[in-house]
Amino acid sequence: MNDKLRVGIAGASGWMAGALSVGVEYDEQGFDPKTKKGTKSRFSVVGALCDLNENVMHTRKQELGLENARCFTSYDEMLASDAVDAVVVAVPNHLHVAFALKALKAGKHLFLEKPFATTWEDSQRLINATAQTAVTTKLDYILVLYDEQQKLRQLIDRGAFGKLASTHFTYRHPIQASQSADQIWKLSRQKSGGAVPMGICHAISLTVYQVNEIPQTVICKSCPPKIRAFDYDTQMDILVVFENHVVALVQGNIDFAEKYDARHTIIGTEGQFDYNPYNPLESRVVWSSKSLGRAYGPDPDFAQHHLDSGDVWKHQCVRTVQDFVRHALKKEKDPLLGLESPLVRRTEAVIWAAEQSAREGSRPVAAAAFLG
Ligand SMILES: NC(=O)c1ccc[n+]([C@@H]2O[C@H](COP(=O)([O-])OP(=O)(O)OC[C@H]3O[C@@H](n4cnc5c(N)ncnc54)[C@H](O)[C@@H]3O)[C@@H](O)[C@H]2O)c1
Repeated sequence: MNDKLRVGIAGASGWMAGALSVGVEYDEQGFDPKTKKGTKSRFSVVGALCDLNENVMHTRKQELGLENARCFTSYDEMLASDAVDAVVVAVPNHLHVAFALKALKAGKHLFLEKPFATTWEDSQRLINATAQTAVTTKLDYILVLYDEQQKLRQLIDRGAFGKLASTHFTYRHPIQASQSADQIWKLSRQKSGGAVPMGICHAISLTVYQVNEIPQTVICKSCPPKIRAFDYDTQMDILVVFENHVVALVQGNIDFAEKYDARHTIIGTEGQFDYNPYNPLESRVVWSSKSLGRAYGPDPDFAQHHLDSGDVWKHQCVRTVQDFVRHALKKEKDPLLGLESPLVRRTEAVIWAAEQSAREGSRPVAAAAFLG
């Protein structure tokens, strides 16, 4: 275990931290909690767990076979213990920046769950602190690393769709807020940051990744929840215009959806790409490209790739946290999802411009004001 990266997981009893623990402790095939089967990672180990909920933390350690994990109820004690080289921060959102700043101060590599912060001011404090450290950081915009998104980006870069004209990414997915009293923080704007930081940021991160340009103007209209007792608006319809004049529509709702509903559309001067999770698997991806001589139609091969399914436990967390481990072991910055990367900073700018536009009756807001 000596040369493995020892990772401490904060928020260890939480839904998300369980999946991330698996990604750290086991290889890319993950771990099946039912059969208790999984191959240990050669690169990383869960060196510590930290949660206020001691009983659940110990149960989790046992259920997931994390035999090297020391258990802490104090994050400060975990950082001071020398049990870890890196931390995963998966506590409620309003604690993210404070926990992240402490990790950087202690010289630990930092994997931060989204959202980056619950206010723009806090996000700037963290960006400034990150710029002054040599450690590896990563923000968990999990969807960016999907095969689908990576392959789509390659097609865009090859000019398969000609000049990009518009995009449409949706994130409609009821967040897990009603399953336990512990998760009640998700209903509060002060603790969650609002609907965009809470979940719709995923669709924004994909938009910013695929358009790959500086966002210019943001307009957002919001609507209140219909099902659960959020104290903030949960439907956000966002229009972003980028410096290359691409017009992006981002739609999100964290209160309800038909099912996990993430649609992706890219339209260019010479082609189009559509992902629709309601189609049968073989026609979930449909695309065309003049330069590649492809008429608009389903691509069953593409659909066999790793598509957005919403099943975080199964595979996504494994991939995203193992990518972090690779960078941390090489002591290198993550150019794509490091906390100071262009993708993360531009996504932050759109998030806070959208929140402001919604508050001010859908007034157009310049993203530059939030680019720092
Ligand atoms: N990237 C993604 O797709 C994705 C998906 C789900 C959740 N998340 C993020 O993961 C984080 C956790 O979400 P969740 O659904 O697991 O929440 P959760 O409420 O289920 O878990 C949070 C955990 O943090 C613990 N905690 C609270 N205060 C603490 C403290 N001071 N010290 C130590 N532990 C403390 C709680 O006891 C709980 O076990 C959130 O930031 C959320 O946005 C990201």
